[in-house]
Formats: sequence, C-alpha cells, structure tokens
Amino acid sequence: MEAFLTLVLAAGRGTRMHSPLPKVLQPLCGRSLLEHVVRAAAGAGSNSLWPILGHGREAVEAELAILRDSVMPSIQPIWQKDQKGTGHAVQCALQPLEREPASRTVVILSGDGPLLQSETLRAFVAAHGKSKAALTLGVMELENPTGYGRAVGSGRALKRIVEERDASPKEKLLRTVNGGVYVTTVGLLREFLPKLKPSKNSGELYLTDLVALAAGKRKKVEAWKMPAEELLGVNDMEQLAAAGKVMRKRILRNWLLAGVRVVDPENTYVDAGVTCEAGAVIEPGAVLLGNSSVGAGAVVKAYSSVEDAVIEAGAQVGPYARLRPGSRIGAGAKIGNFVETKKTVIGKGSKVSHLSYVGDAEVGAGVNIGCGFITCNYDGVQKHTTVIEDGAFIGSDVQAVAPVRIGRDSYVASGTTLTKEVPADALAIARVKQENKAGYAARLRGRQAARAKKEG
Ligand code: UD1
Ligand code: CA
Repeated sequence: MEAFLTLVLAAGRGTRMHSPLPKVLQPLCGRSLLEHVVRAAAGAGSNSLWPILGHGREAVEAELAILRDSVMPSIQPIWQKDQKGTGHAVQCALQPLEREPASRTVVILSGDGPLLQSETLRAFVAAHGKSKAALTLGVMELENPTGYGRAVGSGRALKRIVEERDASPKEKLLRTVNGGVYVTTVGLLREFLPKLKPSKNSGELYLTDLVALAAGKRKKVEAWKMPAEELLGVNDMEQLAAAGKVMRKRILRNWLLAGVRVVDPENTYVDAGVTCEAGAVIEPGAVLLGNSSVGAGAVVKAYSSVEDAVIEAGAQVGPYARLRPGSRIGAGAKIGNFVETKKTVIGKGSKVSHLSYVGDAEVGAGVNIGCGFITCNYDGVQKHTTVIEDGAFIGSDVQAVAPVRIGRDSYVASGTTLTKEVPADALAIARVKQENKAGYAARLRGRQAARAKKEG
C-alpha cells in the first residue's frame, strides 16, 4: 500500500462542548482527541498529515509542535479562517494540494473521532484501493442515528449523504450513517470540491455533498462498514465520557491479554501512555495516569492515584496512596496508605507504610520510614532535597527540614524535627525531654470536680 496523505478536520469551535478548550484538544485517556487521530493515521501508514485549523489555532499549533516530535514529523497545518463547514475546510487544502499528483490517495478524518484504530484505517484504505472506487466513506450502523448524516444508496453503492437537519422523516429512519472517514484522490477533490453549494438550511458547505456530486457524474462512490465503536464522534461532554469508557476498556483488555491482573476493569482508570508488565496486579479504584509504568509482580492497591510515576517489579503501593510525577518506587519497596510522594526515588525494599509526605527526596535501599514522616521541602520560595541513605531507620512523626541528609544505617528517634545532617550510624533525637509530675492528674481531677459542683 502506498503511503497516503491525511487531512484532519480540526477547525470547528466545538460549541456543544461548552468549553474554552478547542474541541480537538479535549483530553481522552491522557491524550488530546487530535493526538489519537494523528496516531491512528501514522500507524495506518500516512506519511504526511495536514490538519485544518481555525478555532483556537494557537493552542492547537502548540499541540502539533509536540506531536511532530513525538508521533509524526510531517505535519503541515492549513488555515481555515472562517469555519464555513466541512466542505469549506477541505477546500482550504486545495491550493497546497496543487503540488500533489492527481492520483495521490487522500484520507480525510475528523479531529473529533478519536476511537478509530490504525488497523481499521489501514484495512479501509486497502479496501478502497481494491474496489477501484473514486470515493469511499466509512459508515456505521446505529440503533439511534440521531445527529449523523444518513447514507442513501443501495448495497455498497452510495448516492448521497443527507444531514440530520435536511433529512425527510423517512430518511431520518435510515440507520446507516456517515462516520466522517473518507478515502479518495487529489484528483477527485480537485474536480468536485469547487462545485459544492451552501446548504439551504445552514449556509455551510458540506463535505458530504461530494457523494452526490461524484455519484451524479457516474463515479464509483462506496460505503465501507466499520465498527460503530470506532467512529463515534465527540461533540459534547457526554460523548467524551462515552469515548473514554471505550478507550479504557480497550487499553485494559490489552493488559489483561498480556497477563496483567486487573481485578475490576470497569473501575480502573488508565491513560493510553501507561505501561504494565505481565504479573502486575491493579486493584479497583486505581487511577494510573500519564506515562506511568508498573513492573512485574507489582501491586497497585485500591484507590491509589499514580501519575507519571514508575513502580518497579514487586513493589506495593496503597491502598489510598498518591504517587505524583517523578516518583520512582524501587523493586520490592512498599508505599502504604495515605502516603504521598513527589519527585522522589525510593530504593529497593524500602518502606513508607503510613501517612507520610515524601517530596524531592532520594531514599536509599532498605530504609524504614515510620508513620507520619514529612519532608519539609518548600521554604516558600524554593524546593530542597532530602537524602536518606541506605539502611536508615526513621521513627514516627519525624519532620526533615530540607535540605538535609540522613546518613547510612542511622536512626532517627520518633518525634524528631531534623534540621541538620545525621552522620552514618548515629542516633538523632531532637525533642523536649519528658517530665512526670507525680499525682498531678488526680489533683487536676479533684479541682475540676469542685468547680463543677460550685457551678451546679
Ligand atoms: C459530520 C458530517 C456527518 C457525519 C459526522 C460524523 C458533515 C456536513 N457532516 O457531522 O455526515 O455523520 O460528521 O461524525 O460533514 N470542521 C472544520 N471546519 C468547519 C466545520 C467543521 O474543520 O468549518 C471540523 C470540526 O472541527 C470537526 C469536523 O470538522 O472536527 C466535523 O464537524 P462537526 O461539526 O462535528 O460535524 P458533524 O455535525 O459531527
Ligand atoms: Ca462531529
């Protein structure tokens, strides 16, 4: 299959989202809608991608700069100054398309269709090539087709697409709808795009009218059925949530088949960039975000939140732990309930079992940190580092006022506020000495009883 050119419609405002963020930048499992579409195109064999930008252009261009580095180098945006419909959007590409041969294959995708998978797109382009159609549309069968353009034709042959607002009551009953995925050639776009007429009802130029124009000139226009799940459009927050559910299910299914024990996939929240090794266990309520990774045999217990963190093999996290960006939990280490870590490396086999904050810290191997340990890492202006060397034992309720170093195999007594270095093998203790006043409690109780009597 020859490498194809992809146009991505991404200029619309996304009015129905009621959000200041351009629609194609809405997040779905840790990636923008646009990133999902670009990845699908790149994965299917597109070597050049032209997104059509308009609304929120600066923000979308900033995202494209990142995608150029991380996903696909050849991205060339096209500017649609006024958004006069999907047909108008593609017309904006006609001028740059002049440099391309008429026979070149062009795929048109919607920036708001993030669920399309690269294998499906690849098969679609191959089927189009095989059938020698001039234009092929990806269609889907829906129980409730409301909002989508209805496919009018017979069998695979398409006559026209009629948009919801223009459809007759009879046409509205059609359940095969346009999924917004097209494959054609530069030549067909050149011939028919200039002939689009504004819709009577909306004044917009509809890309979908290409079907009637080309079919009317006896061009072969075909429908190609795709799984509805992959063509669902995201036009409002309800559809964004529904797409998230589909995407998560897909990610988790891949993990399950690779040997990760996800106890309850319906109650596990994961981003697309997270990796998990076989033998890892993910308990219900876990939230795994960004580019986090979980090693073999590691356990993420219930209701733990993990963002851009690495959990090495055999480590245990949670329940109710929070690993913030830059946390690395070493092999066999243990992070217990209500422990928060940030920009922190926890060495092999070390334990932070309860109620602690460990931020900007380097913790060595075999360290034991008691309940209620706090790194005081921020002085209001700067962040400072806490270093805890191998084998140190930190008692409960200890505060480390950073920058501070706790030496190898040292011991820090409970209740200590550390403000200076603890040498290796030393015991650090910094707390007020205990004083016992004999019989004082009984005297206090007597005094209180007398006062209560007097006051009646
Ligand atoms: C469109 C199709 C409809 C199809 C549905 C599939 C048309 C006229 N209708 O409807 O047949 O069933 O997709 O999801 O094409 N955009 C621009 N410039 C514009 C207008 C839109 O770039 O001037 C972009 C939008 O940002 C969006 C995409 O085109 O990414 C589709 O536009 P949208 O308004 O969502 O079209 P639908 O009503 O969903
Ligand atoms: Ca749409």
